[in-house]
Amino acid sequence: MRPLLFLPGPSMVPDEILASMLKEPVGHRSKEFHEVYSSTVSYLKEVFKTENPVYIFTASGTGGVEAALANVVAPEDRVLVPVYGEFSRRMGEIAKIYSSNVITRRVEFPKCEDIISLIHSHENIDLLLIVYNDTCPGLTLRGLDRITKVAKDSGIMTVVDAISILGGDRLEMDKWGIDVTIAASQKCLASPPGLSFVAMSEDALGKVREVPRRTYYFDIKEYIEFDKRKEVPFTPAVNIMYALNKALSIILENIGLERWISYHEERAKALIKSLGSMGLNPAVPTWNISNTVISTTLPQGLKPAEIIEYLSKEYSIFIADGIGEWKGSILRIGNMGWINKTELYMLVTALADALNKLGNKRIDIDRALNLLKIIHFT
Ligand SMILES: Cc1ncc(COP(=O)(O)O)c(C=O)c1O
Repeated sequence: MRPLLFLPGPSMVPDEILASMLKEPVGHRSKEFHEVYSSTVSYLKEVFKTENPVYIFTASGTGGVEAALANVVAPEDRVLVPVYGEFSRRMGEIAKIYSSNVITRRVEFPKCEDIISLIHSHENIDLLLIVYNDTCPGLTLRGLDRITKVAKDSGIMTVVDAISILGGDRLEMDKWGIDVTIAASQKCLASPPGLSFVAMSEDALGKVREVPRRTYYFDIKEYIEFDKRKEVPFTPAVNIMYALNKALSIILENIGLERWISYHEERAKALIKSLGSMGLNPAVPTWNISNTVISTTLPQGLKPAEIIEYLSKEYSIFIADGIGEWKGSILRIGNMGWINKTELYMLVTALADALNKLGNKRIDIDRALNLLKIIHFT
């Protein structure tokens, strides 16, 4: 049976996209590469909603975060990092490698006002690092545009990790005034893992020129030079770029970005209702609900690991536990990329079965499935 990945990444990659990888990897200084590279970069700009350059790294999302921070965080910079999950915690850890002046502040279930107060209560901040969707506990920071505006008005540069949300929810890099935006291939862009992207505003590029070099592989000054001839400095994962290019062409040309995002929204709404009817309630408050990572608490006495194992053994369906301090207390269900109605029905049916068997519950499967009917996409 083909596994169903409802993980918070990687997401499922349809055959048509996988098939696009099945060819000889062209030389990365060739005309063929120039074509796939420039087409991929221009698609990415559409997704990021930016006129700014987007650099592609052969690295997972963490590599993208590291590339961004190594190039815009100067050793003496005062860096503010609100922490509300495992990935914002990690962003703070990475920043500490590049500056000795990093301030991490814990904010439980943040609203944009909380982050704005945090900005106002710290003086002389140079950079604000934000995870737009913290994949654990599965939480979206709403009102990002208001935060970036306040940051800009205070002369603060913003770096946004949008790895688990770009393509699955709204983000407008230029309009919102974000300086650096980071994303990766394996989440809402429905491509295999292996590539990450960093988009940079004019101000961010200016900062790159000032910051001393502390990385060789991720030195963006090199990527800027190579980009002029439609190349990257080192051997790229060409075949993954083929797949990404194909996925982006389908998302942008066949479906349309707005519609693609609304698929994520529709599915999230329906799934949250359906899961709730089975006693799997949101693990985050309504203002932090994520379209892309749906996290739930569990009925008393049940452990995520038992449900995860049951689903994988009985159904080849894969969902995730919490990580870090959330390990053992929440279920995380990825709602990213290509998921059709049938697959959602399979997930809900399998979860109902798991709860019945493992938790001795009497789940009303009909009701749970009926709640999926509000989905309007095919
Ligand atoms: C928000 C966020 N940031 C960073 C990462 C790290 O990405 P990777 O595991 O691709 O290195 C992830 C991965 O799930 C993520 O969700």
